[in-house]
Amino acid sequence: MSVAKNEERKVTTHTLQEMKKRGEKISMLTAYDYSLARILDDAGVDVLLVGDSASNVMAGHETTLPITLDQMIYHASSVVRGVQRALVVVDLPFGSYQGNSKEALNSSIRIMKESGAHAVKIEGGREIKDSVERILSAGVPVMGHLGLTPQSIYKFGTYVVRAKEEQEAQRLLEDAHLLAETGCFAIVLEKIPAALATKVAQQVKVPIIGIGAGNGVDGQVLVIHDMLGITHEFSPRFLRRYLNLYDEIKGAAQHYIKDVKSKDFPNEKEQY
Ligand code: KIV
Repeated sequence: MSVAKNEERKVTTHTLQEMKKRGEKISMLTAYDYSLARILDDAGVDVLLVGDSASNVMAGHETTLPITLDQMIYHASSVVRGVQRALVVVDLPFGSYQGNSKEALNSSIRIMKESGAHAVKIEGGREIKDSVERILSAGVPVMGHLGLTPQSIYKFGTYVVRAKEEQEAQRLLEDAHLLAETGCFAIVLEKIPAALATKVAQQVKVPIIGIGAGNGVDGQVLVIHDMLGITHEFSPRFLRRYLNLYDEIKGAAQHYIKDVKSKDFPNEKEQY
């Protein structure tokens, strides 16, 4: 296949906006490594998010706060090497942008330059407007993230549904408008009432991708370890599991251990 033909099939921020216009839902999953990114890209997922949820599912931290910019770049560059078609978006980790638009720009430039990713994602509303503007001024596409923003977990105190009260819902709606007007190409809405998410998707021109935000938005995102059932103890209502890999992998490992102990593995055909 020629390079030009291959290029035509790549998902861009423009592709996502066209999908919203024609009512085609956007599929997004997280990925943190080359091998899984390759499978998910081959499956046809539209967007791969190198989420700072890597802090939880890859590194075993309780929150997303400890992951560093260097670690995000490592995960992102691994994902980029596995991708031919999907748009690769990378989370700006905690401490790499808050309160300092220059640092937000520098962090974004490092991500784009050192990983080869296509866009960054940043948590927050009006308080990060300057950072979004500054990142965009360097030609780096920005995805917003509102609702439950896990980097603020110590401010919220809990992972319960956000924006159930009128005042917070109104602020979220205003922030979504602001992010879109500032130039974000899409916005993630996490764990908010479905009716509010639907309203945002109807009013705001850019694609709205939901996680625990119902079916009235323009696309869905799940953490890959959750949808594959690797994180088997995490069962929020919004999660649909497509596999139970925890048990599958454990069973395979137990089978291997048994074969090794019983000297069944390797057999004559499995040696040189
Ligand atoms: O880090 C992450 O995985 C995310 C998704 C939950 C949207 O931000």
